[in-house]
Amino acid sequence: MIIKDNCSLLGHNTFGIDVKASHFVDYDSVDELQTFVRQHHDAGDASPLLHIGGGSNLLFLSDFCGTILHSRMQEIHVTADEGDYVYVRVTAGITWDDWVQYAVDSHWYGLENLSLIPGEVGASAVQNIGAYGSEAKDFILFVDTVDLQTGEIRHFTAEECRYGYRDSAFKHELRGRYAVTHVHFRLSHSFRPRLDYGGIRRALEERGINETDLTAEQLRQTIIEIRRAKLPEPKELGNAGSFFTNPVVSRETFERLSNKHSDMPYYEVDKERVKIPAGWLIEQCGWKGKAQGRAGVYERQALVLVNLGGATGKEIAALCERIQADVKAQFGIEIAPEVNFIG
Ligand code: EPU
Repeated sequence: MIIKDNCSLLGHNTFGIDVKASHFVDYDSVDELQTFVRQHHDAGDASPLLHIGGGSNLLFLSDFCGTILHSRMQEIHVTADEGDYVYVRVTAGITWDDWVQYAVDSHWYGLENLSLIPGEVGASAVQNIGAYGSEAKDFILFVDTVDLQTGEIRHFTAEECRYGYRDSAFKHELRGRYAVTHVHFRLSHSFRPRLDYGGIRRALEERGINETDLTAEQLRQTIIEIRRAKLPEPKELGNAGSFFTNPVVSRETFERLSNKHSDMPYYEVDKERVKIPAGWLIEQCGWKGKAQGRAGVYERQALVLVNLGGATGKEIAALCERIQADVKAQFGIEIAPEVNFIG
């Protein structure tokens, strides 16, 4: 275990916000994490504990007066291999895309469309990350955690995690209480590519790849190219991927808007509800490629807010508020951040 005091968080958040944490703990085993949590409480320390992954979905508004916990455990372990399925336990601290690459190399299929999503495995189970028609929840069976109040180990089934669109119980009633230590995935030995989501088939055609000969590695590389064309690389331009979730509106609201905007893209959710791309709403409000001080809206994808260099978390949050107000004024729709604000 490594404990650092007064630690810069610059390298621990993809927005590149320059703040500090009072303490930063990198632990190497579940036992170390449990011991740390128990000692923290036994000492009567009331300062907050925050468990982070790759910091790809966080916006620090100020210095963090507490302890940041981070896993350095790097283990991928097959727990069972039966019929078409392989069951794999993966530690939270592994970089998500390294896990996807490992799975593809091992001929364990399902995660290809989730290639290149930033962050670590633990966060995938909190955030239910998703892209190109797949979501982490499609492959998660259960999640191992440590209770940050008692130090006890607790397992959650996928059902108990109450997964929804970019959502889970860990973002609501369980928020801040449990640190994910391992995620259990079920992957398939058969490759069944998901190609229906906009753009994938076209991208395969452009690369001269025939659907019938498609390999998982080729699909992964195609997804990586699509993402790179649309989304900024955090090392070059600080960002946290999609800043907002796509709002789900009633059919009534949808009909009212689509009568006015016949070109408005949408996804059917169910009979009553329709999802509208927040990126489109923000672009319609004129924000794409615009900036407010050092905080900006990415020029190729309006859903992504970027740090143009040296922005504070509060500056990014102020831009977020202006965008929300404009979308509300122009469309009557509330858009909510997907990113977690800390501080
Ligand atoms: N659009 C615009 N202007 C923009 C951006 C998008 O008009 O500036 C339109 C597009 O033309 C398209 C529609 O909005 O018709 C949807 O755009 P896109 O396919 O790029 O996807 P998205 O809804 O903006 C979601 C996820 C992404 C994920 C992509 C691909 C959310 C919040 N975001 O974005 O996830 O990569 O689909 O599956 O659901 C992330 O969570 O960090 C992330 C990048």
